[in-house]
Amino acid sequence: MALVRIPEENRTIEDEPAIAAFLAGHGIDYERWTDTADLAATAPPEAVLEAYAGRIAQLKARGGYVTADVIDVTAETPGLEGMLARFNSEHWHDEDEVRFIVEGRGLFHIHPPQGPVFAIEVEAGDLIRVPKGTHHWFDLCADRRIRAIRLFQDPSGWTPQYTSSGVDRAFQPLCFGPRYFPPTGPTVTA
Ligand SMILES: [Fe+2]
Repeated sequence: MALVRIPEENRTIEDEPAIAAFLAGHGIDYERWTDTADLAATAPPEAVLEAYAGRIAQLKARGGYVTADVIDVTAETPGLEGMLARFNSEHWHDEDEVRFIVEGRGLFHIHPPQGPVFAIEVEAGDLIRVPKGTHHWFDLCADRRIRAIRLFQDPSGWTPQYTSSGVDRAFQPLCFGPRYFPPTGPTVTA
């Protein structure tokens, strides 16, 4: 499940309905798809799209998206750092940024017109729609692994428009990972 952090307020949101409500307040759609497909790590893009064909059709109907593809990278992907450098400084797009995370993790930072910058850590099973025009940037987590379905209204509209604000440089791309939250039961010491 996703995790939202608002560094300026020293606040973390970890509860799914609270995350969805907070993001909705910024025009961002967030859903959890619990019926995730059982796909091999080596499954080709076509198999990923096939496994989620029903869901993709629903999203296309809902949001006017016409195409879908799969981004699939690991730490070993040639040119990865150059690819990431296109998206890890503040930018916006002429169309929505829609991602369903199939595997791995990633970190969006959102810079709203009013209010502090916040981070959304996404992981497998998370669907996110960042509306067009939203100022944001994206990083991978330290493990450099993500496989995600991307949906486009018009792929040419997805060119990053950089703000050159420098705001992104004030935030470290820190992910906490699935084990960030300690168990709530009593602490047992050996
Ligand atoms: Fe983007």
